[in-house]
Amino acid sequence: MRLVLFGPQGAGKGTQALNISQKYSIPAISTGDIFRWAIKGGTSLGRQVQEYVDEGELVPDALTIKVITERLGAADVQGGFLLDGFPRTMEQAKALDGVLRERGTELDGALVIEVPEEVSLRRLLGRLSCSQCGRNYHVDLPPTVDWTCDTCGGQVVKRVDDVQEEKIRHRLELYHQQTEPLKAYYKERALLRQVEGQGTPEEVFDRVRAAL
Ligand code: AP5
Ligand code: MG
Repeated sequence: MRLVLFGPQGAGKGTQALNISQKYSIPAISTGDIFRWAIKGGTSLGRQVQEYVDEGELVPDALTIKVITERLGAADVQGGFLLDGFPRTMEQAKALDGVLRERGTELDGALVIEVPEEVSLRRLLGRLSCSQCGRNYHVDLPPTVDWTCDTCGGQVVKRVDDVQEEKIRHRLELYHQQTEPLKAYYKERALLRQVEGQGTPEEVFDRVRAAL
């Protein structure tokens, strides 16, 4: 199964990506995680993307497309994948179609999880994330041991782009301007699956499964 997953910030993409990856045995690839790991590791990619990520701006298309094209060449994605947070612009969506076409494959579905803006804000302002594996927590539902990931033992932190409400609102604005138009793009090709993102993570996952 080859899937893309998008939706406003805080919709629960990362949370559901983990569930989908386990249920369907496909790797979940998050461009946000790739960029944060590169920044943490001080790599050349990290230096190129840090300012965009910290400020909540989109990383330029050419660089993002290059990163995903390379990642899609790896052995573990040949049987399927879930892209969390890519594509995020029309240019990225068209580039992905081109890469898949060249490899003789195509997408099986485009899942969008949607929540109202107040829910996005509440979730992101309370979010805690593992800096090692990317697993998400919330101040209301923290890891069992403070600041330590239940899954990998990594350090749980607050993401820099989750601290200021203004920056979160700016990311949401970019979503509506640049990413939301992808709904029409995928709907036209009968790939779009829309899921309501409110409710418990388990309730949302039931809807995701039904949609897939
Ligand atoms: P990215 O890491 O993708 O961040 P984002 O789009 O801002 O989305 P989030 O990760 O904030 O939200 P989410 O939907 O994953 O929510 P989550 O599951 O964590 O991107 C970061 C940056 O990288 C971008 O700003 C940009 O700079 C760059 N970038 C990445 N991809 C790019 C691209 N393609 N092109 C250009 N630039 C790119 O859930 C949020 C919180 O809510 C958590 O605390 C979670 O525990 C909680 N929660 C989840 N589900 C529920 C539920 N059902 N009920 C209650 N709480 C819940
Ligand atoms: Mg995420």
